[in-house]
Amino acid sequence: MQNKFKRILVTSALPYANGHIHLGHLAGCYVPSDIYVRYQRLQHRDVLHICGSDEHGVAITISAEKEKTTPKAIVDKYHEANKDAFRRFGINFDNFSRTSLPIHHETAKEFFLDLLQKGYLLPKEQEQFYDAEAKMFLPDRYVEGTCPNCAYDKARGDQCDNCGKYYDQLDLKNPKSLITGKTPVVKKTKHWYFTLGRFQKKLEAFVEGHSADWKDNVLQQTRSWLKEGLQERAVTRDLSWGIPVPIDGAEGKVIYVWFDAVLGYISSTKEWAIQQGTPERWKEYWCDETTRYIAFLGKDNIVFHTVVFPAELMARTGYILPDNVPANEFLNLEGGKFSKSRNNAIYVKDILDRYPADLFRYTIATNLPETKDSDFYWKDFQAKNNNELADIYGNFINRTITFAAKTFANTVPKRGPLNDRDTAILTYVKDAPQRISDLIEQFKFRDATMEMMNGARAANKYFNDSEPWKTSKTQPEQCGTTLNICLNIVRSLAVLFSPIVPFSSDKVWKMMNLQGSISDEHWMNAGEAQLSEGHQLGQSEILFTKIEDSTIEQELGTLGTPAVAPVTAANTFAPLKQQISYDDFAKIDFRTAKVLQAETVPKSKKLLKLQIDLGFEHRQIVAGIAEKITPEQLIGKTIIVVANLAPAKLMGVESNGMLLATASDGDNFALLTSSKDVDTGIGIK
Ligand code: 2FM
Ligand code: ZN
Repeated sequence: MQNKFKRILVTSALPYANGHIHLGHLAGCYVPSDIYVRYQRLQHRDVLHICGSDEHGVAITISAEKEKTTPKAIVDKYHEANKDAFRRFGINFDNFSRTSLPIHHETAKEFFLDLLQKGYLLPKEQEQFYDAEAKMFLPDRYVEGTCPNCAYDKARGDQCDNCGKYYDQLDLKNPKSLITGKTPVVKKTKHWYFTLGRFQKKLEAFVEGHSADWKDNVLQQTRSWLKEGLQERAVTRDLSWGIPVPIDGAEGKVIYVWFDAVLGYISSTKEWAIQQGTPERWKEYWCDETTRYIAFLGKDNIVFHTVVFPAELMARTGYILPDNVPANEFLNLEGGKFSKSRNNAIYVKDILDRYPADLFRYTIATNLPETKDSDFYWKDFQAKNNNELADIYGNFINRTITFAAKTFANTVPKRGPLNDRDTAILTYVKDAPQRISDLIEQFKFRDATMEMMNGARAANKYFNDSEPWKTSKTQPEQCGTTLNICLNIVRSLAVLFSPIVPFSSDKVWKMMNLQGSISDEHWMNAGEAQLSEGHQLGQSEILFTKIEDSTIEQELGTLGTPAVAPVTAANTFAPLKQQISYDDFAKIDFRTAKVLQAETVPKSKKLLKLQIDLGFEHRQIVAGIAEKITPEQLIGKTIIVVANLAPAKLMGVESNGMLLATASDGDNFALLTSSKDVDTGIGIK
């Protein structure tokens, strides 16, 4: 964190209180924000995490009509349900407020009146769709038609869900009222318009000031909005549900939901400050340049947080602006979009009775849609649990504690003189907090999670290579050293993994019989060996149990029909090569190999030089993957190589084989690795 900051304000997009939280919401916003906050807390920084329910707007009134009830009943139901779902999933906001509360209405009215008084809100008569039969103007979502941009025929009144374009509702082709199904007429109505254009220059400077630290997807969407030139936007609607426009003569009109929702962050902070008994403290977080404000949200909310909200804040005086908006793309489900209506969704409220939250937290964290849409697959969920959490992380914890229980009377043995392997693993673990911290500070949560699992991998390898089951008989002192180190690594991993799998980390803490809680630890000290010799350990228990195929089949059976995900450039396939015979294929000798060392080839942007262990021999290979993966990420991995390829020289460096990886760029680049720790030199068929 840059030095000028004394505290961090984190906001997570306020979910609409008209539906249950599902995995898509979690991956888009709440898992990253929670990881970030948990990590910052372990850095012992002053961090406040704010959220709440977005309870206004036509999303709510339409849901009320569908469920044949009132908007109030809808928001009451979903606010409580979502608050509970977050809590059970381990997402702990400092405050989870509601935009229907008086404190929020007052805050939004104050903003509205101040902007009005400063001349940033201008009244204007404008034509709008009117349903003559229902006798009401049709706010955006009450009208559907054909998108003027892409011709999608289920486009909403103000935005197309297919191409993402925002437009004036009168530009919609073949409009239909969603209330009566009739074609609406066009009629004049008065609304207040936010003069966004007056902030164009200031917003451009603000956004370009972050060209080096904001994510590409966020910059691109924002720049494209700014490039079109900011237009005045109506910030009132003809609707009965919402915050009444605080002006005489504006009866029957409410403040537009997006104008008020973002202000929900401020009112939620005010509510928090009152609950703390320090009502003025909200200003520390919103009106002090030493606060760093990070806004987490999904891609459909980007411009509201990089353009509209900053403009509202600029229009007042004394408010800070977001320092970063690390928005994620969408998570799809089994290759299709999450869809409530098609029953293609996995809701938090449903899954936590069947699986511990940590399994989803980990699977989502390894697969966050950080740079482009990603997918949740039940089979991947099973593989991540069985092959990574259970076989790598859980296995290391269990084998270590069980071994200590059996061989050292369930205590931490004495550490004797260190050999090279001991020193190497101790250094690796000591440096882990900094390595992971560098990734989290850049909002690279996927890589950070992988780095944590690499730590568990390295720990297992150390255990294997040290062979304590042999040294316990032949060199008891060495065996004690190995176990002392392993137990210390268990402790370190519990802290380092805790932002991702907090419930499991708490369990490890108990198994290790450690004092206090993980939250008392300091992130930067997590890699230090801190256990005292003779410390009595607790009771070991299995951390992650394997998930059976039949369980996954059952889950897949309950899903509805997925909507086909839009075809993107990434899905365009290279033409198939000429057919080959089995004999041709059988000539290729694929083997597993462990990467011992990796380094860049001088003067080459693309080449990496690898020393690999093929079991029966060590070899050097050269691969053109330097732009896609770092040497550190490769070391220790079990990769797949073509072992009988004729030697070749690449930029003068000899290569004796070829590793396998996807022939793709960007996020589609992947190294072919073994899904579990197998011996090196094994043939592949
Ligand atoms: O997309 C949504 O679910 C909106 N309710 C997000 C609002 S974010 C912020 F403005 F509160
Ligand atoms: Zn469109």
